[in-house]
Amino acid sequence: MAQISSSSDVPDMGRRQFMNLLTFGTITGVALGALYPVVKYFIPPSSGGAGGGVNAKDALGNDIIVSEYLTDHLSGDRSLAQGLKGDPTYVVVQGDGTIANYGINAVCTHLGCVVPWNASENKFMCPCHGSQYNETGKVVRGPAPLSLALAHADVTEDDKLVFSTWTETDFRTGDNPWWA
Ligand code: FES
Repeated sequence: MAQISSSSDVPDMGRRQFMNLLTFGTITGVALGALYPVVKYFIPPSSGGAGGGVNAKDALGNDIIVSEYLTDHLSGDRSLAQGLKGDPTYVVVQGDGTIANYGINAVCTHLGCVVPWNASENKFMCPCHGSQYNETGKVVRGPAPLSLALAHADVTEDDKLVFSTWTETDFRTGDNPWWA
């Protein structure tokens, strides 16, 4: 009896380990997807500063000085800055060399990877599962279900760039903003 039970345990163990692996994979996937909103939830909205706007910051955490920024970020440039709630947000330099009045949140709407700008393809292309967004952040290929979020980007009198929440219609889709 003992022998029968031990020999039938072998495939059971294999299956259990396989099921554990599956469960672990599923949990990891769900956790990665769930973690981002949870982390965001615990960041106090007051970190946004007065009037809900925040100064765009460079990689070193310094406020972006627009006139300096435009000396080495030329027409068509899309570079990351720290935006609302600390989200990585693209600053868009337009064809006329000025900064667009919108920034593009770089967080992929699929599972939250930061989406790099691909200048030669003129698209944002997510390395995680292949989603693509056009030059304004509108989704053009899934699995991402939605376009990248927008933020207002305004140049202040003291030469800084301020991001604030975009609550108006999404100009790329004509829809209400899903992020507001
Ligand atoms: Fe899945 Fe970007 S996180 S495609």
